[in-house]
Amino acid sequence: MTPSPSDRFTFGLWTIGWTGTDPFGTPTRAALDPIKGMHKLAELGAYGVTFHDNDLVPFDATAQERDIIIKNFTDALAETGLKAPMVTTNLFTHPVFKDGGFTSNDRSVRRFALRKVLRNIDLAAELGAETFVMWGGREGSEYDGSKDFAAAFDRMREGIDTAAGYIKEKGYGLRIAIEPKPNEPRGDIFLPTIGHGLAFIAQLEHGDIVGLNPETGHEQMAGLNFTHGIAQALWSGKLFHIDLNGQKSIKFDQDLVFGHGDLTSAFFTVDLLENGFPNGGPRYEGPRHFDYKPSRTEGYDGVWESAKANMDMYLLLKERALAFRADPEVQEAMQYAGITELAAPTLAAGESVADLLSDTASFEDFNADAAAERDFGFVKLNQLALAHLMGAR
Ligand code: GCO
Ligand code: MN
Ligand code: MN
Repeated sequence: MTPSPSDRFTFGLWTIGWTGTDPFGTPTRAALDPIKGMHKLAELGAYGVTFHDNDLVPFDATAQERDIIIKNFTDALAETGLKAPMVTTNLFTHPVFKDGGFTSNDRSVRRFALRKVLRNIDLAAELGAETFVMWGGREGSEYDGSKDFAAAFDRMREGIDTAAGYIKEKGYGLRIAIEPKPNEPRGDIFLPTIGHGLAFIAQLEHGDIVGLNPETGHEQMAGLNFTHGIAQALWSGKLFHIDLNGQKSIKFDQDLVFGHGDLTSAFFTVDLLENGFPNGGPRYEGPRHFDYKPSRTEGYDGVWESAKANMDMYLLLKERALAFRADPEVQEAMQYAGITELAAPTLAAGESVADLLSDTASFEDFNADAAAERDFGFVKLNQLALAHLMGAR
């Protein structure tokens, strides 16, 4: 399995650059020079890098320092051939954001956060990025009485609509992708899941250019099914970007290598991304972005092993998912399961409710007991999937 840029694998600079600081321990690795990291990722076959403003430019850099750093970064993009398809803003590290950026109770902080975002949107556009991610890690609370929640949603809407309106006004080719997460670092974070995100986007003035950046582990932290979630985002035309990683059940955000958490779920995620819905429909065409943390037990050899592992896992799963769908026995099992039948509209073409009400076969003469005799063979189909996943077929 040799990754190449055509696989469109991307990595956050903050992933390979994570030095292992956690709430209980200091760094276990020396800081990584982002430029060095970019060369290494290109060597491994990645397509691009993504970053928070402050992964590259320190929070307190002068305008002159910022220009030099950005110049070095663009030079490194040219040297390595890497793209920067996604950019995001850090509204969580500095203590000023302790109560959030867009939803801080302090209005001056909200105005500062908005300026920080608008400045970073200019940079994203300059670099030719397509997606601007907004992960509101500090937008939330520890105590339900600490905020007026309606006002917080108003301010969140105001912030995102202002950013989206600015993108339109400038004619930038950018779309915003909101990243849901249920908790951590806040006790509870606003827009905790894909579903909350979709409902929120429907309330926006500029919702047409706002979608989602779901992360595998974040949905799983909430006990939810990631593949169901991205399927609904895709079906809604809102899967703008994706953060792939691994998580083992409901606990702290593990940010493991993709596939190193719930492997069966990862298989079906790749199956959906690569093969699409069984009966056709919208497809995800964006980068395959890994947002993981190389475990703090590892040195830099381990960091690069883990970066490779993400791509390897994806390619292995892709190979397995393609074999799964191509297997005639699987196709037969899918047919038996009624997967094609689900694509047939429940009402016939042109059939009205009145027609349905007068169709006695569908109700008065419907034999529920006879229909209940049907079985779907889902277990057999799933066993075939797992046999493919394990390389046994
Ligand atoms: C997390 C998040 C973050 C965001 C990133 C983008 O693990 O909590 O994934 O890593 O994706 O900060 O803004
Ligand atoms: Mn995460
Ligand atoms: Mn993420």
